[in-house]
This record gives sequence, C-alpha cells and structure tokens, in this order.
Amino acid sequence: MPHTDSIPAPWTDHPVRPLGDREFEQIRDLARRTFGLDLRDGKQDLVTARLQRLVRAGGFHSYHEYYRHILSDSTGESLLALIDALATNHTAFLREAAHFDFLRQHVMPELARRPSVDIWSAACSTGEEVWTLILLLRDALPSSKLRVIGSDISRKALATAARAVYPAERVGVLPPAWRDIGFVKERGQPDLYSVKTSIRTLATFRRLNLIEPVPWPIQFPVIFCRNVMIYFDPPTQAKVIANLNESLEPGGYLFVGHAESFSGIRHALEYVRPAVYKKPIGKRGGSCQKS
Ligand SMILES: C[S@@+](CC[C@H](N)C(=O)[O-])C[C@H]1O[C@@H](n2cnc3c(N)ncnc32)[C@H](O)[C@@H]1O
Repeated sequence: MPHTDSIPAPWTDHPVRPLGDREFEQIRDLARRTFGLDLRDGKQDLVTARLQRLVRAGGFHSYHEYYRHILSDSTGESLLALIDALATNHTAFLREAAHFDFLRQHVMPELARRPSVDIWSAACSTGEEVWTLILLLRDALPSSKLRVIGSDISRKALATAARAVYPAERVGVLPPAWRDIGFVKERGQPDLYSVKTSIRTLATFRRLNLIEPVPWPIQFPVIFCRNVMIYFDPPTQAKVIANLNESLEPGGYLFVGHAESFSGIRHALEYVRPAVYKKPIGKRGGSCQKS
C-alpha cells in the first residue's frame, strides 16, 4: 500500500516559473506598503520558500500571476494569506527575560496603587508574550484589575494565541509556580498545555497593523513591542515609534527587542536601559523622525 504522503496533491503537479527579479520587486513593494516588511536584497530564496505553497495551491503558474491575483482580490483574503506566510512569528515564553525582571523590580512598584492596569503587547505573535505578562502581573499586582491586549497583523498567529494551547517543552521554560497557576494539561494529550480560563479572561486579542494609526484612544503605562521593528526600514520604524509614543502615558515604558536599536531615529522617548524607553512626564511627545 503506498504511503499517502508520496501521492502528490492535485495542485503540486503543475510547473511554476521561478521567482524572477521583477516579481521579487513587486512582492517586496507590496509587503512594504501593506505591512512595513522590508525585504532586503538577497531575500528571494526566503520569499520563494514562504510563498511557493500558496502559489501552487492557487494553481498559479508564476509569481506574477499570483501577485496580480492578490491585487484583484477585493475580499482582501489573498493579501492576509500573503502576510501570514511572510511574517516571522518566532517567539517564546519569558523571551528576553531581563525585560520581565526590570518590569517586576522597577515598573510594578510604580503601578502598585492603581485599581486597574492595562498593558499592550503589540506584535504578540502566537501569544506567549501575553501570557508571560499576565502571569507576572498577577503575581506582582494581586489586587489590581488586569488586562493585557495582544495585537498582531497575522490572523494565523492570533488564532494560535486565542487558542492558547502550547507544547509542554515551550511552557517548560516558565517557573513551576507560574506553570501551575497558568496552565492545565490538555485532556488526553499530555504533551500539550492549555492556558487556564482564569488567565485567558485577562487577555484580549485584536488584529492591528502597526504602520497604521492606532485605532483606540487608550494610553498605556507599559507597551511591549519587541522583535518586529527589526523587519521595518528606518522611516517605517520612525512612524511606528511615533504611533506607540501616542499610545503611551507620560512616564510610561516602551520595551523593544534587544536586537532593535533606535540609533539614527529622532524620537521623543528617554533611553532607560538597553531596549527600554520611557515617555517623559510633562511633554506631549512629538513625532519621531529619521535624523
Ligand atoms: C518575531 S514576532 C515577535 C513576537 C513577540 N513580540 C516576541 O518578541 O517574541 C514578530 C511579529 O510581528 C508581527 N508583525 C509584522 N509586521 C507587523 C505589522 N505591520 N503590524 C503588526 N504586527 C506585525 C508578525 O506577524 C509577528 O507575529
């Protein structure tokens, strides 16, 4: 009996012309305009690897045909699928742990007297950052009403975040006490852990494109926006920092990824320590521009 994996699916057996330079330029331009992704020279192989499944599945014979289809698809579904395929969703629980230490030691005492605390995890990917924040907040601010808003552009990543079920080895990096408070084993699947309802109810997920103006009037005392600006070019980074600045309370903190630097970008935030910035108190905080 043949192994079913060896039978080609109907859509895999037609030839697709390799991604040419002009087609790469078209997709690069589309990705930059729609969600800020800066596909630098030499990323052709990456684009091919991430898009060829969609090109084949759609029955297209070239990347140009596929590109034309995205432009003509008035539902926007094809563009969403392109974004899902091109976005890098790598994340982890307790990623860049120094941020959580700083948050607990220096920021939580400032928030301790508030009856309610809302934090924004911008570009939260599959949710690990959101659950880590909630577990820390619950520990540090047991009597405050808590909410973490997780946003991302990728519909697929957000669906995983909202499902909130993770392999045991990913959850295993958390302190055992947090694991017990936050997770239960999935019934019949010992290698999977599910976020408990008491924790889930403290999170809200929302699809949001960081290169567009923020759609809410809320200002947060803390925003995490980590490991996404690294994919943007400097003018887009400046625009995103300006948007985030508008959403920070005076005195509020912005956490970015440790590999991300604001050097060369003029902005209204104070440097606190590597990958942590603060909005000065008493200033409206103007826009950020490349210097
Ligand atoms: C590498 S993950 C970072 C996840 C998490 N913040 C962390 O540091 O572990 C980057 C995320 O940014 C999202 N992203 C990329 N461009 C975006 C945009 N324009 N607006 C919102 N999210 C975006 C991707 O979908 C992806 O989930």
